[in-house]
Amino acid sequence: FPVVVLISGSGSNLQALIDQSLQGKLNINIAAVISNKAQAYGLERATIAGIATHALDHKLFESREAFDAELQKLIDQYQPKLVVLAGFMRILSETFAKHYEGRMLNIHPSLLPKYKGLNTHQRAIDANDKEHGVSVHFVSPELDAGAVILQASTQIEKNDNADSLATKVHTLEHIIYPLAVKWFSEERLTLSDGAAFLDNTKL
Ligand code: GRF
Repeated sequence: FPVVVLISGSGSNLQALIDQSLQGKLNINIAAVISNKAQAYGLERATIAGIATHALDHKLFESREAFDAELQKLIDQYQPKLVVLAGFMRILSETFAKHYEGRMLNIHPSLLPKYKGLNTHQRAIDANDKEHGVSVHFVSPELDAGAVILQASTQIEKNDNADSLATKVHTLEHIIYPLAVKWFSEERLTLSDGAAFLDNTKL
């Protein structure tokens, strides 16, 4: 099941997918990992795992559309059935998002629809929230607004700060993202009438 993963940074979610594939828990073939940042540590993780890597610097393009068009070309060379955004810190053009509609997932560190965008951990603390968490969703053109597939939450303790909360949330990410990818690769998970649909007859 061919998958392309897009990253911008550390790639710990990518690592979770690699590890579960190696353990035989996840039946996917990560055909390529693409980063918009050449320094992203996730590219090293991919290389160590023997996965093809590409760095495509968005700063070399004169518009978002031009970058996205090149990125799309690169991705489609691998004919992925699924595109996984794993810490890919770029806003996507509408054309790009529509091209992969129903076959592109993202993970966002908040309990959506709360805290779209950046600095989610600090925002949850500042709002005195009792809990915080993470969401896996289908990507739609509007930022962090696609159909939610699954969420996991953790309590915010009195002594939590943005860093401690980020660590807790990351642990949850590494559990729920591979699970959502697994469902998709088993063709049980689809985007149907704008909502995530999990087929329970295909267990
Ligand atoms: C994660 O917190 C994810 O929710 C967000 O970007 C971060 C990526 O972390 N979209 P990593 O690069 O997978 O370690």
